[in-house]
Amino acid sequence: MAKAASLPETITAPRTDPIYNCHSYLTKVPIEAIKPFIEKFTEPGESVADFFAGSGMTGLAALSTGRSARLSDISALGQHIALGYLQNVDSSKLRTEGDRVLSVARKAIGNLYNTKRASDGKTQEVIRTVWSFTYICPACSSPLVYFEHLDKKGKPPATCPSCRGPFTKRLWTRGEDVPVSVVVDGEDGKQVEQRLSEYDHKAIKKALGDKRLDEIPSQKIEQHREMYSRSGLAKVGMTETRKFFSSRNAIALLELWKAINAVKSKSVRQKLRFAFTAILPRASKRYQWSAQRPLNAQNQTYYIAPVYYEWNVFDLYSRKVNAAISANEELFGKPSLFNAPGNADVSYELASADKLTHLANNSIDYVFTDPPFGSNIFYSDMSLFHEAWLGRLTDYKSEAVVHTTGKRKNGAEERYQRLLQKSFEEAWRVLKPGKHMSVVFGNSSGRIWGLVQRALRDAGFKSTPVHVAILDKGQRSVKGLSSGSESVVTVDLILTVQKPLRNEERDDARALVSGDKQALIKQAVRELSTVEARNPSHVYARVLRKAIQKHFVLDDLHLGDVLVSLRNAGYSVDPKTGGLLEAKLEEAAA
Ligand SMILES: C[S@@+](CC[C@H](N)C(=O)[O-])C[C@H]1O[C@@H](n2cnc3c(N)ncnc32)[C@H](O)[C@@H]1O
Repeated sequence: MAKAASLPETITAPRTDPIYNCHSYLTKVPIEAIKPFIEKFTEPGESVADFFAGSGMTGLAALSTGRSARLSDISALGQHIALGYLQNVDSSKLRTEGDRVLSVARKAIGNLYNTKRASDGKTQEVIRTVWSFTYICPACSSPLVYFEHLDKKGKPPATCPSCRGPFTKRLWTRGEDVPVSVVVDGEDGKQVEQRLSEYDHKAIKKALGDKRLDEIPSQKIEQHREMYSRSGLAKVGMTETRKFFSSRNAIALLELWKAINAVKSKSVRQKLRFAFTAILPRASKRYQWSAQRPLNAQNQTYYIAPVYYEWNVFDLYSRKVNAAISANEELFGKPSLFNAPGNADVSYELASADKLTHLANNSIDYVFTDPPFGSNIFYSDMSLFHEAWLGRLTDYKSEAVVHTTGKRKNGAEERYQRLLQKSFEEAWRVLKPGKHMSVVFGNSSGRIWGLVQRALRDAGFKSTPVHVAILDKGQRSVKGLSSGSESVVTVDLILTVQKPLRNEERDDARALVSGDKQALIKQAVRELSTVEARNPSHVYARVLRKAIQKHFVLDDLHLGDVLVSLRNAGYSVDPKTGGLLEAKLEEAAA
């Protein structure tokens, strides 16, 4: 316990830094959240392993503190992103080559992005085009262009404008998507939105008939994939990744990709490929329009909003190259994030966490890792979108995930448990005796927490963690109590366990007995008035932490229980922020 004494209990790591934001990956852990752990449990020059490494943030955190990192994951996309970050390139070369590939691609697509500015008829490149779904009324068969019937706040109509029958999205069939407005630079330099002219329609039609569409790198999203059913892809015919791009953007991306891949310098090419995959979600129909401001792409699903953007690929890429230059300078420039002394290095293998054959027994000084959280996110399904371009796919068969649909639903939890268990056994094998492993984990179900608890114990780690931290990544708010989307957890725990110096007797956790659960929840609610972050996930994290410290079995502690207790105690949740309302907090404390 002494070793971890000075680690903070709550780690707040907002996801706003330029490195973090340069390339998205599902559930990244920010570098700043990892560094205190590496510094606590290792000395400079020692080695850190992460075998669910994703985009490689552990590697960057290790390098920046002068430690070496041995990363691995099954994800081809994760490896591509991590190696992209780690590639040190000269900023001026990157800028020159970035501009050059843009100009090659611009030439190759001709006038596909051109439009006429309405105010003076000047030819300009489109900044973005807004597209809308069309719905067909089941009663009178009239088409309804969704965008055109939204009110000022972006709310849909209640009835069919033709026959006044009720408008229910789910019951109406979908017609063709149609472009509804174009945004260009106005004469005064400010962006202006204008209606489409004949000129725009011609450019869109031309792209639709372009032969290059057959060359777009694509992957089928097959029926056995969880996201096939979860995103309702069959119903809307979106079962191939290339269908997520408008014809025009698909051609622009293809030409850009060809130009990038022809760049001679390997390191510059790698960084430009990294910047390319970083723009794919926004370059696709997944970039959601909203009446207030663009809503980015939902990166956990293949959802397309009824109004979406077709954003100019060249603008997106040009901005991303700038972001890659800033991140590169922060990582490798002077002063640099990687300014620690020593010969630290990072490697990244494609390997399943239950078979770390590239690592020798007792060779690693510390493990920091962030496994998938049960059935929340299907990394390999979502990565297909990028990997189609890379031409290398994740070996999804060994993915640690709990399937909830299709054939793989049977025995899914047991398979997940076995994989996690074997992975922790591998961690135990490669760690030097007496050394530590920190595991980031977040889930709203006590059953999954219980499973992690047993897997750590059975792998041979000391059963009481050395330290339990709450990791607040400042994520989306929990709409919780009022909206019904109650099972979203926005707070993770970081459990740090130790490999004993010699084999020890197993010390099993105690079952919760009557009253224990309510006492734990009550205490966490009472403590709320003394902590800053006040949302249901935070209360749940505090309940779990107490239970872990008291060595209780976690299986019966669910986020749902905390929500019910909060509701019974008269709390409500601010629907905008997800936070518990201050007035109620004060009442409860009184
Ligand atoms: C929560 S993410 C890790 C994200 C990472 N912390 C980051 O900063 O990007 C979990 C990772 O586990 C990987 N994964 C799933 N099953 C795996 C397995 N059997 N072996 C290794 N990695 C696996 C996924 O590909 C995903 O990258």
